[in-house]
Amino acid sequence: MKLTKTFSIGVIALSSLAYACGGGNTESTETSTTTQAPTQEVKVSLEDKYKDDPIFVTGSAKAKEAGCTACHMVERKVVGPAYADVAEKYENTPENIAMLTDHVINGNVGNWGEIQMPSHPQLERADVEDMIKYVLLLKR
Ligand code: HEC
Repeated sequence: MKLTKTFSIGVIALSSLAYACGGGNTESTETSTTTQAPTQEVKVSLEDKYKDDPIFVTGSAKAKEAGCTACHMVERKVVGPAYADVAEKYENTPENIAMLTDHVINGNVGNWGEIQMPSHPQLERADVEDMIKYVLLLKR
């Protein structure tokens, strides 16, 4: 008799424990939704990489105002080459800055393909130089 009582108390205790566990499990499956870890690494854009550089701030504003953005993007070829590709092709030297400034002012064709960059005779040379310094800054 004494033994049976202890046993049944034990069963009750066990079953309530199992209930508690079951309840807990149900809750956790309900709350854990399908949050998947991002599979791709977040890439920092060149704009973000250089945005605090004064050469970037000045040059990108002038290039935007001059309408270069109609044909050029930083990291993707549109009509003209991506600035990042120009930066990769030419070292940042005074000679290259002068040469590329000439190409923008006088127009150019053949370095990147068959499409011609129109001339920009209305622009100040100093402004175009600021734009070129900005372009050559954009190394990946
Ligand atoms: C109408 C479209 C167009 C506009 C506007 C334009 N570009 Fe271009 N750009 C091109 C094309 C096309 C080329 C490739 C020319 C070539 O193959 O030599 C080019 C080439 C360049 C190059 C590389 C030149 C070389 O010799 O490798 C630079 C730097 C450049 N552009 C900067 C600018 C800047 C700065 C402006 C704004 C003042 C500008 N572009 C406006 C179309 C454009």
